[in-house]
Amino acid sequence: MKKRRGYIVAGNWKMNKTAAEAVELARGVVREWGNAAGVEVVLCPPFTALEAVARILKDSPVLLGAQNMHPAGSGAYTGEVSAQMLRSFQVSHVILGHSERREYFAESDAFINEKVLTALGNGLKPILCVGETLPQRDQGDTLGVVDAQVRGGLKQVTGEEAENLVIAYEPIWAIGTGKTATPRMAQEVHASIRGILVDLFGSALADKIRIQYGGSMKPGNAAELLLQPDIDGGLIGGASLEVESFTGIIEAAKAR
Ligand code: PGA
Repeated sequence: MKKRRGYIVAGNWKMNKTAAEAVELARGVVREWGNAAGVEVVLCPPFTALEAVARILKDSPVLLGAQNMHPAGSGAYTGEVSAQMLRSFQVSHVILGHSERREYFAESDAFINEKVLTALGNGLKPILCVGETLPQRDQGDTLGVVDAQVRGGLKQVTGEEAENLVIAYEPIWAIGTGKTATPRMAQEVHASIRGILVDLFGSALADKIRIQYGGSMKPGNAAELLLQPDIDGGLIGGASLEVESFTGIIEAAKAR
């Protein structure tokens, strides 16, 4: 049975691919998946490849996303890019609060919240990433950690804006490790995130917000994860770097 919300599958290319390599990968995705009917597909190349990939995606239903953004409109923030800069390349989505940003660049929930508000205010759809570490899971803190990240990241987001949100649940111990949360483990957290969204925005809106799973998703495990009632897509790292594995996951979403 198709989910009312419709799936969203995004490729987070991280710090991989020169502009020329990114063009080749984007071309491959468009060729294999030019008709993304029923599944929203988003490619998130590094900043340096956004313009080149935008040109490839222009006449296709595949959408363009960025991996980060600064909350300020402009100014003395060496090395950063603004929402408006992303918008000028037809970027529709932006990944915010990825665990690698939280860990290596010390991003706090408050800072991520500023970015979420700026993104929404500028017509960008945030993909807000949340997830626990292995010690946190082992201590039984998963739902508490995720609760704080979701509420912290979404402070002051209005009901009107909420429809444009995407949440990505990414258990940190599953990212790039080959370890995946079991469908049951993931569904438990997704359902709890849905509960928080109901609390924040009411059930009608919460029902429309897509919650992606991320963490070693691949063609072989995508179907069973996507079958879960509150898993509405995937945020794909490693497997998004090859056309075949990425489109294999899209196929799995299409078949649900
Ligand atoms: P992975 O990364 O698919 O390589 O585990 C997911 C992510 O970090 O978004």
